[in-house]
Amino acid sequence: MPSLKPVSRALVVSNDAAWLEPALSGLASASARLDNPFGIAFVSARTGDHAMQTVKADGDLQLVVIDKSLAGLGPGQAALDLANRINSWRPELSLYVVLSDDERAMVEELVSHAVDGYFDRDEPDYHGWFRILSAELAEKSATPFYDALQAYVKMAKDSWHSPGHSGGDSLKNSPWVSDFYEFVGENLLRADLSVSVPMLDSLLHPTGVIATAQNLAATAFGARKTYLATNGTSTTNKIIFQTLLAPGDKLLLDRNCHKSVHHGVILSDARPIYLDSSVCREFGIFGPVPKATIYRAIKENPDAKALILTCCTYDGMLYDLKPIVEAAHKAGIKVIIDEAWYAFARFHPAFRPTALECGADYVTQSIHKTLTSFSQASMVHVNDPEFDEHLFRENFNMYASTSPQYALIASLDVGRKQAMMEGYKLLDRTLKLGAELRQKINSTGVFRVLDIGDLLPDEVRNDGVRLDPTKLTVDISKSGYSADEMEQVLFDKYNIQGEKSTFSTLTLLLGVGTTRSKVSRLCDAMFRLAKDRRRVPKQSYRMAEVPHFSWLACLPRSAFYESGECLYLLDDDGRPNEALTGRVCCDQVLAYPPGIPVLVPGQVITPPITSYLAKLLKGNKPVEVHGLADIDGEYAVRVLTQEELEAAPSRSLFLQDDEKAGDGDRQQPQKVQQLEQLPVPSADSVTEEVHD
Ligand SMILES: Cc1ncc(COP(=O)(O)O)c(C=O)c1O
Repeated sequence: MPSLKPVSRALVVSNDAAWLEPALSGLASASARLDNPFGIAFVSARTGDHAMQTVKADGDLQLVVIDKSLAGLGPGQAALDLANRINSWRPELSLYVVLSDDERAMVEELVSHAVDGYFDRDEPDYHGWFRILSAELAEKSATPFYDALQAYVKMAKDSWHSPGHSGGDSLKNSPWVSDFYEFVGENLLRADLSVSVPMLDSLLHPTGVIATAQNLAATAFGARKTYLATNGTSTTNKIIFQTLLAPGDKLLLDRNCHKSVHHGVILSDARPIYLDSSVCREFGIFGPVPKATIYRAIKENPDAKALILTCCTYDGMLYDLKPIVEAAHKAGIKVIIDEAWYAFARFHPAFRPTALECGADYVTQSIHKTLTSFSQASMVHVNDPEFDEHLFRENFNMYASTSPQYALIASLDVGRKQAMMEGYKLLDRTLKLGAELRQKINSTGVFRVLDIGDLLPDEVRNDGVRLDPTKLTVDISKSGYSADEMEQVLFDKYNIQGEKSTFSTLTLLLGVGTTRSKVSRLCDAMFRLAKDRRRVPKQSYRMAEVPHFSWLACLPRSAFYESGECLYLLDDDGRPNEALTGRVCCDQVLAYPPGIPVLVPGQVITPPITSYLAKLLKGNKPVEVHGLADIDGEYAVRVLTQEELEAAPSRSLFLQDDEKAGDGDRQQPQKVQQLEQLPVPSADSVTEEVHD
């Protein structure tokens, strides 16, 4: 592999030719004579607008040096204005202002957060300036943990510690398993080390290279504090819950949050207030929770401790977060945003604002999903002004392995470095490739990339929801292929693997690793498939309506930890089992698509729920249903026994609520009476609604 040397452009902005020309030539000569590992080259701009054009167009730009004499709004003002404009467009760029020493206080007051340093106009020490700029890039692009890991491997120490493969020595000469050594490579095995190596710091108590890597990540993503995690966002969501929520504390959550959120509810013994997500039934895709639903929940639950939403959703739908965060904060509610699918957003203005920029207190990101890190490598960003660092650390350590995989931590260092140094350029390319792909797919006349108007359910149309353009949802319903057939043919014939599908759509994810050749191969496949379009389109499907959340009879944790008993989902005649009505579920039951839990532990089962599950399982379109028990090959639901329900420690909480909802005099809670009035669907109505 030829070694690829970076190019880093530095823009010097001034309309004072008498200052600019010697400055440019002095800096250029310093770059030629001094060590220049980042390939810094200087370019210039005479006006703020010209500078902004360069900032937008030049993906290799890393540094901007602004002369305070820039003409415009008044002395110094134009330079400060430009610094702010650049910072809001590309916060990852380093900014230096050239001024006289006595002007610094004024600048610091106006743009202190945007400016990384100052040069003295009266002391034009260009070599010194160049060294400072080069050091700035060295600091930003540092990978402290990865560097220490490489250094340790190069030291070739004998291993008298875990892991057992001893840097691969147990594998490499084995006639049985040396192929694994060859497959994963020597470096990965040599770098697979344990906490016995002090120079590699400790993920559970970082004070050295991991602490430095975390600080760099916090700066890059715009957080007060950042934690590197090696157990995925599935774990970090739980860590945050356990930090913020005491048993019984209220949590407002999108009912369609990732399953780790629901697991976190069980583990933390929180009291969940479920918010129904919007659903686009035509394409089987869930959308955001309507703003009105969120605002109502905040109003009705001012005692809630936290709100968690997923932004963007798996299919790329983005909340208009700022007003939501503000409303929650007004009520004293902390905001957690699951940004598992949106870690790259900070590095291109087309995707911003990020959740942190909207004021979220905690943000979890699967860096591995959309940036360059190994699977399971995630980050937690914290902006909560009342952050309890000690408690968070205790919870982090409770969930973390004491043997973290060091390659994952190194990959987080590398992922952050790449996003910081070339994220803008790569994402710009991704956006262009995405637009081209969209246009070409649409030009087949058979396949169509859905836009926000197609995907948004009616109830969220006026909620300011945006679509992440790197997630392409393709409507394949006119092709005559089912989604499963389409995925199979793309895989077998064209060597293409997409992200996921619903009955009529295929989702393609673009990212920093998307290349032009991959786009060409995909377009070619889509054109050929459009040509081979099957003449008789298959019957089109419409997703069955997900039943609304019923209500909780006790906290999810109370239900989950009981033994319960299993009741069949269907009766002997294949109808939804009436005996389930009114019973309290012990597990989370989830159907894909759309991935919204139909039941959570502690939830009361109603006829619409059993009939929905029966429909899904009896329909001729295969769906995945998780959380049902299997008794002799028949589906069953684990439910609380009456004794378990009555003894559930959290039961009294919900009985009071039921009584409040009723007229007070009645023995029977109102909800139970409502339940008794719900019709039990007939066997026929069960199957009809699934398909159009
Ligand atoms: C919204 C959301 N949050 C969290 C996760 C879990 O992330 P990880 O795979 O990093 O554990 C996922 C995984 O798909 C997800 O979709």
